Amino acid sequence: MSDSREILVTSALPYANGPLHLGHMVEYIQTDIWVRFQRLRGHRCIYVCASDAHGTPIMLKARQDGITPEALIREVHAGQVEDFAGFLVSFDNYHSTHSDENRALVEEIFAALEAGGHIETRAIRQSYDEQEQMFLPDRFVRGTCPRCGAADQYGDSCEVCGATYRPSELVDPVSVLSGTRPVERESEHLFFKLGNFEPLLKSWMAEGRLHDSMRNKLEEWFEAGLQDWDISRDAPYFGFEIPGRPGKYFYVWLDAPIGYIASFRHLCDRQPELDFDAWWRPGGDKELYHFIGKDIVYFHSLFWPAVLHGAGFRMPSAVFAHGFLTVNGEKMSKSRGTFIRASTWLEHLDPEALRYYYATKLGPGPEDIDLNLDDFVQRVNSDLVGKLVNIASRCAGFIHRVADGRLAAELPEPELQAALAAAGPEIAEHFEQRRYNQAMRQVMALADRVNQYIDREKPWVMAKEAGREREVQAACTQGLNGFRSLVTYLKPVLPRLAAAAEAFLRCPPLQWDDAGRPLLDHAIGPFEALMQRVDPKAVQALLDASRDSLEKKPAPARVAAPAGTEEGPAEIAIDDFLKVDLRVARIVEADYVDGADKLLKLTLDLGDSQRQVFSGIRSAYRAEDLPGRLTVVVANLKPRQMRFGLSEGMVLAASGDGGIFLLAPDAGAEPGMRVT
Ligand code: MSP
Ligand code: ZN
Repeated sequence: MSDSREILVTSALPYANGPLHLGHMVEYIQTDIWVRFQRLRGHRCIYVCASDAHGTPIMLKARQDGITPEALIREVHAGQVEDFAGFLVSFDNYHSTHSDENRALVEEIFAALEAGGHIETRAIRQSYDEQEQMFLPDRFVRGTCPRCGAADQYGDSCEVCGATYRPSELVDPVSVLSGTRPVERESEHLFFKLGNFEPLLKSWMAEGRLHDSMRNKLEEWFEAGLQDWDISRDAPYFGFEIPGRPGKYFYVWLDAPIGYIASFRHLCDRQPELDFDAWWRPGGDKELYHFIGKDIVYFHSLFWPAVLHGAGFRMPSAVFAHGFLTVNGEKMSKSRGTFIRASTWLEHLDPEALRYYYATKLGPGPEDIDLNLDDFVQRVNSDLVGKLVNIASRCAGFIHRVADGRLAAELPEPELQAALAAAGPEIAEHFEQRRYNQAMRQVMALADRVNQYIDREKPWVMAKEAGREREVQAACTQGLNGFRSLVTYLKPVLPRLAAAAEAFLRCPPLQWDDAGRPLLDHAIGPFEALMQRVDPKAVQALLDASRDSLEKKPAPARVAAPAGTEEGPAEIAIDDFLKVDLRVARIVEADYVDGADKLLKLTLDLGDSQRQVFSGIRSAYRAEDLPGRLTVVVANLKPRQMRFGLSEGMVLAASGDGGIFLLAPDAGAEPGMRVT
C-alpha cells in the first residue's frame, strides 16, 4: 500500500495482583481487533503492553500470601501471558513495569521534568498506621462519613451520600491493615505541576482525535482547575526508589504509563531496525494510540500527555476509552458466578466466540457493554455457525463431488462479488473508527445475501440432475468466494477461523482487498468444521466453574505454602515459631456472613476467654455442622478490622485443590491448651 502508516498501539497495563477476567478482555480484544485490522490493511502496526507491577496493593497482597512482591508479579505475569495467548491477543511485546528499561526511563523522565521546573517538593499531612509503620493510601482507612454518618466508608469518599473528604475527617477512622486508629503525620512529597501544561493540553485536546465524551470530561476538569499531582510515596513501597531521595518512591501511576515506552524499548533490543527516537520523540510521522477503560481517563488525557511533553517525548495521537463490562445486565458478581476469569472461559468456550460477541457490542465511545449469556449463545450460533460457516459447508462438498475440488474459472453472478468488494471501504471505516458493532452488522447483512443466492440456486437440487455439474460448480464457486470475502472482513475479529479458512481454500493469507480478486480455477482442500456451535451446557459449566474457582482460592487461614509459588515462606528459627501462640479452641457458634460468600464467622472458646474469628472456610463447611468441634487457633494474631467486623485470630486449616480441611486435635484435648 502506498499510503502505508506507521502506528504504535497500547492497551492499559493490567495490575499484576490477580488473574485477568472478562472485563479486562473487553479492552485487549477491542485493541487487538484494531491492531489486526491495521495490519490487514498493510500498515505497520506495533502493539505493546506490560504488566503493572508496582504499588501498595501488590506489596500487601504479596505479604498476605507470604511471598515476595517479585515472586507475586512473576507468577501473575506468566498467567497473563497465557490468557492473552489464549484469546489470540497479538502483542509484539508484553513486558513488565518492574524492569530495567522502565527504571531507566522513569529516572530520565523525572530528571527532565525536574530540570524543566515542573517538580515541587512540599510537606503534606497524611494518615499513618503506627502499628504497621506505614502511611496509608486513602482507601486503606475506613470510618464513619463526616457528612451523613454512614458507617464503614472509605477514606476518600462516601458510597452512601457521595461526599468526598480526607481520611482524617472520618469520624472514627480505622486502618484497614491493623484495625488501629491512624494518626496524622507529616512527610515531604514531590509534586508534578500539572498547571504548567494547561495551554498545551488545551491545544492537544483541540487537535487530538478524542471522542466527544472525553473532550467534555476534559473541559470539566479544566474548569475545576488543574491540581498539582503527588508523584511520590514513602517507604515501605514496592516500586522504584527516587534517586537522591532515600525512602521516597515514585508513585505507581507515574511509572505505569512509562511502561508503554519501556515495553517498546525492550522490543527495540530484539528488533534493531526499530528506531526508538523516531517513534518517541516529537515531530515524526508515526502515530501513537492508547486504548484504555473509562476509569483511567484522567491519567491518560492529562497527566500522561503533560509528562511526555515536559520530558521531551511526543504526545499521543489519540486516547480511546471504552466502557465497562456487565454480565447478564449486572456488575460481575462472585456469588452469581458471573465474575469470570479469562482462563476459566478458555477451559469451557471458544475465545473467538467472545471476540465476535464483544465486536457486535463495541462502539467508539465509553458506553458500558453487556455480555448476556443467552444472547451470546444465540448470536454466535446464528451468525457465525448458521450464516458464515454454513456457506462454506454447503458449497465445499459439491466442489469436490462435481469438479474434483476445483473452483470454476468464472463467476456466474459477478455483481454479487462486486457488491461484496464495494462494501470494503465502508466496513474499513467502521473498523478504523472503532464502530465494530456496525462493521459486524454490515458483514452479516452481506452474509445474508450470499446465503440467499445459494438458497435460490439450490446446488443440492441441481446436483441430483445429470448434466448440470458445471452449474453446480459455478454456484458453489460463487458461494465460496462470497465466504472468502466475509472471512476477510472478519479476520481482525476471528484470526484463527480465518487461518483455517485460508488452509481450506488453499490461498495465501487474506488481504483486505482480496474481495476484488476472486479465487477462480483453483483447487481447494477438504472442508473441515471451522467453528463449533456453542453448547448452552458449556455456558452453564462456565458459570459453575467460576463459582468454584473463587471457592478454591487459598483460604485466609492455611498451613501450607500458597499453591503454585516456588517460594513458600522463608525458613525461620524455632524462636520465631515459638512467637506464635497456638491454642486449642472449641467452636461455640458459627454464622454465615452477609455479603461474604467465602467467610464464616466463628465464636471460639479458648478456655478462659471467647474470640470472634472470620475464617475463609465457608466453601467446605456448613455453619450448622461446626459448633462443638475442636480446632487450633493462632491466639496472639494482631486483631484485624475486616469489612464485617473485627477478627481476633485465625483458625488453622489445610487447603489445596482438594478443598479446605480444618485442623483439630485428637479427642481429649481441652480448649485453651497450648499447641507446640
Ligand atoms: N494498571 C492500571 C492501568 C495502568 S495503564 C498505564 C489498571 N489496571 S487494571 O488491571 O485495573 O485494568 C486494566 C484495564 O482493564 C483498564 O483499562 C480498565 O479500565 C480495564 N478494565 C478493568 N475492568 C474492567 C471491566 N469490568 N470492564 C471493562 N474494562 C475493564 O487500571
Ligand atoms: Zn456519607
